[in-house]
Formats: sequence, C-alpha cells, structure tokens
Amino acid sequence: MVSFKDLGLVNTREMFAKAVKGGYAIPAFNFNNMEQLQAIIQAAAEKRSPVILQVSKGARNYANQTLLRYMAQGAVEYAKELGWEHPQIVLHLDHGDTFELCKSCVDFGFSSVMIDGSSLPYEDNIALTRKVVDYAHRYDVTVEAELGVLAGVEEEVSSEESHYTKPEEVIDFSTRTGCDSLAISIGTSHGAYKFKPEQCKRDPQTGRLVPPPLAFDVLHEIEKKLPGFPIVLHGSSSVPQEYVDMINEYGGNLPDAVGIPEEQLREAAKSAVCKINIDSDSRLAMTAMIRKVFHDHQEVFDPRKYLGPARDEMKKLYEHKIVDVLGSDGKAE
Ligand code: G3H
Ligand code: 13P
Ligand code: ZN
Repeated sequence: MVSFKDLGLVNTREMFAKAVKGGYAIPAFNFNNMEQLQAIIQAAAEKRSPVILQVSKGARNYANQTLLRYMAQGAVEYAKELGWEHPQIVLHLDHGDTFELCKSCVDFGFSSVMIDGSSLPYEDNIALTRKVVDYAHRYDVTVEAELGVLAGVEEEVSSEESHYTKPEEVIDFSTRTGCDSLAISIGTSHGAYKFKPEQCKRDPQTGRLVPPPLAFDVLHEIEKKLPGFPIVLHGSSSVPQEYVDMINEYGGNLPDAVGIPEEQLREAAKSAVCKINIDSDSRLAMTAMIRKVFHDHQEVFDPRKYLGPARDEMKKLYEHKIVDVLGSDGKAE
C-alpha cells in the first residue's frame, strides 16, 4: 500500500471546493507519454495552476500503470525543480470500470479515482460507486462518479448516443453513493468528432460546422439541486480548427472534426463545473506539429527533433486552456 501523500500528490477535495467558490475549473489532462507529461507540468508550474493528471485504461495498456505512477511521482519533483514550491498535482484514474481497478489504483498511490458506472442500470451504478467510495475514503482518496451517458466512440469509452443527466436523480445519487464529484452529461462527448454534421449548422462564410449549444438548462437545474457540489465535464476538447487544418494540410485526413466552443467551456467553468477533461486537443496539437516537422524537414529522424516541437505546441495549448478557458492560473501559488 502506497499513500499518495507520500508521493507529494494531493486529492481533489480542497481544490474543488475552492474552484466552485472561485468560479473557475481545474484542468484534467490525460497523459500517455513523457512529452505530454512534461508539457502539462511546465504549463501548470509556470501558470501556478492546480492540475489533474489523468490515466485512462487505454493509457495503462499503452504505457503501463507502474511506469505512469512513477512518472507522476517524478512530475511532482520536476514541478518543484521548475520553482513551483507547493505543487498541487492530482493523479487520477479516468473512467475506472471495476471496483478492482479502482482499488488497485488507490493501493498504488493514485490520489483520486473515477468509477464510471454510467452504462449500468441506476441502482447498479449506485451500488458499485458506493463500494468504491467506501474503500477509497479509508485512504482519503477522492472519488468521481458519473450519471448520464456521453456519446462518442473511443478505444475504451464508447456509446452511440448521449443521454443527459436527469436532474431529479442527482440528490439521491450523490447522497447514497457519497461520491466527491459528479460527471454529468449535457451534450459533450469524447473524441475529435463530437457532433455529426447533421446535428450542426454550417457557417456560410467558412464552411465550418457550428455545433449545437450545450444543455446549460440541465446544468443549472443540477446546480440548484446540489448547491456547491463539484460537477465534472468530460469530453471537453474544443478541437481547434488550426490543428485540424494543419493535420489535413500535411497529409492527414480529419474531415469535419468538431469540438465544444471555448466560450461555452468558459461559461461552464464559472458555474459548479470545477473539473474539465481535455485529451483530444493535446493529441491534435501533437499530431499537427509532428506532421509539420516531417513535411518541412524530410531529413529528420531523431525523435527529439519532432517530439520536442510537439511538446512545445502542447505546452502552448495547456497554457491557453489554463489562462483563457478555465481561469485556474494563479490558484496554486
Ligand atoms: O475519456 C477518454 C480519454 O480521452 C482517454 O482515451 O481511452 O483512448 O486513452 P483513451
Ligand atoms: P476529449 O476527448 O474531449 O478530450 O475528452 C477527454 C475526456 O473526457 C477524458 O476522460
Ligand atoms: Zn471522459
């Protein structure tokens, strides 16, 4: 048993309480490799932003959970080296799907876990979440649960359609499970294709898709039912069109990729939404830059020559999210 406290990590309890009160949101960035982690830590340290490092099941399969845990532990030391005296870094399991997986992360030094029972019948979701909460709280590890279903297809997370969270269920669910935060469904979804073209309008000037707005009425209903309770938004990448264009220009093919407009995320961050999950945007930044370097410099074969610029591009993206979208800069001095 390794306690996250011995690794210099923190859980989400205090940072969420401050974020809800302060009208900003904490960035939750997924990582699978060293360059992503370096970029996240550099951005968070420079901007003095609390940050959540997310490890998905896919990341565990790709990079190995043990390696990722030690990388996160190293990240705390790296942050200090960068001059961030008291780093506020959470190591979080993203979309845990079984009690055993959540338990193994708690035992292994994660400071926060998500149990995603959103695809289960309501009572089963409650029972599974309660079991994880009972175990995790013994070690002061915080637990995110999910109610409602996000659309989107990814390696490990998939659903054809979204079903908005039902506001009338949230009090019962949060009381009976004892979860620390609740991921809700209000129209976001995973991946770089968040909306089908037929769900969108098309801007006559640019020809770009204009997605339908998020269901802020559902969010506000939930806020009314659970005043001050930390709410989480998954699937919150904006799919920056400059990266999509770069990828397409340099040999890729991502037709009609579309995300959540940043002004809507800005609005959400001011509400009880205190954790915003971003993965796809970092993948797009990395891919765009690697494709550009390969196109511009065909002689390059040293991975540092293309992963380095990709890392710098991701850092720029993370800083932009922290400062211009979530407003979490300066909140972890
Ligand atoms: O919510 C899903 C995250 O974007 C992780 O994706 O399962 O492909 O690592 P992944
Ligand atoms: P995106 O695919 O929008 O980046 O969402 C990531 C996410 O929700 C991770 O849990
Ligand atoms: Zn997610």
